[in-house]
Amino acid sequence: MKYRKLGKTDTPVSEVGLGTWQLGSADWGVVDEREAIAILHKSVEQGVNFIDTADVYGGGISERIIGKFLKETRETVYVATKLGRKVSVRNDWMANFTLDVARKYTQESLRNLGVDAIFLQQWHCIPTDAFKSGEYFTILETLKREGLIRHWGCSVESVEEGLICAEHPGCASLQVIYNIFRQKLTDELLPRAARNRVGILARVPLASGLLAGKFKAGHQFAECDHRNYNADGQAFNAGETFAGVPFARGVEFAEQIRAILKPGREVSLAQLALRWILDHPEVTTIIPGATRLTQAESNAAVSGVPPLGREQHAALETLYREKIAPTIRGKY
Ligand SMILES: NC(=O)c1ccc[n+]([C@@H]2O[C@H](COP(=O)([O-])OP(=O)(O)OC[C@H]3O[C@@H](n4cnc5c(N)ncnc54)[C@H](OP(=O)(O)O)[C@@H]3O)[C@@H](O)[C@H]2O)c1
Repeated sequence: MKYRKLGKTDTPVSEVGLGTWQLGSADWGVVDEREAIAILHKSVEQGVNFIDTADVYGGGISERIIGKFLKETRETVYVATKLGRKVSVRNDWMANFTLDVARKYTQESLRNLGVDAIFLQQWHCIPTDAFKSGEYFTILETLKREGLIRHWGCSVESVEEGLICAEHPGCASLQVIYNIFRQKLTDELLPRAARNRVGILARVPLASGLLAGKFKAGHQFAECDHRNYNADGQAFNAGETFAGVPFARGVEFAEQIRAILKPGREVSLAQLALRWILDHPEVTTIIPGATRLTQAESNAAVSGVPPLGREQHAALETLYREKIAPTIRGKY
């Protein structure tokens, strides 16, 4: 496993991390707790030292499973969580964005994870205007001063939001949707982040599994799976599911990508798709999610896969520009 420094935190984190939305056993079907803990152990055995979660994944289940795992492991593991998307008591989303509520949610995450301070606390896709106002950054600065969190960052949905957050001197990281289907960030946001020493956490790196090339058109996802109920952005930002690409088109694009990348017995299409992201030096870590041990194992191994060729990068850029970009829905 290779390590890259996470922005101005100067902390070396594994270039392959682990996303744990799946381990909350909501939105992706059930992942048995024993399997979840095994996925965490297997990842860390392979050198993964960075884990992404959120207070809302399974209503705290993901954080609590990570908390159990942290008690079992002897390795140093950096856990990033998020706040801001719980439905507040007054049923008013904006009520989440006060210092008192942010402190209360952060204290709940501390209890779930069983740690004294959160390594990285992130605003979890809050409204663009909230990022613009700037006052929400002050809330995280205060939590940092109080010692509840060590660093803070923002999970964002668009280039515009990323550019706003990257300008704040306290912002350590941006969590962005970045993969072969979503290349818009390459030109402006990634260089700006690098210049400002803001780390980049690449989420949805496999476009919710589409870039593994394992689905056929017409595939039926379980009712409780967001790939069923948010396939076209019915429940939340379309970009979080299949990276905003219509499912059937995504299946076709994955086949075209397969023809360019030519996976074989040694290296899978999923691994080459993840490698494409790592080939961008501004990216600190990719955080693929996994519902199975074998997936986590294969994803962690991507650090050892050689970079793609220049011609493959050029062909993927052309495919993106000419065919994929016009199909993307949702904030971008
Ligand atoms: N708003 C936010 O801040 C936000 C939103 C989304 C995600 N995230 C974070 O980003 C992480 C990653 O994004 P994501 O999980 O949504 O999408 P993803 O990583 O693109 O896709 C994960 C899915 O891809 C499939 N997969 C993973 N590894 C595979 C492999 N080696 N071979 C074949 N299939 C494989 C699995 O699908 P099956 O389950 O079908 O096998 C897995 O559930 C999340 O876990 C979460 O931590 C944050």
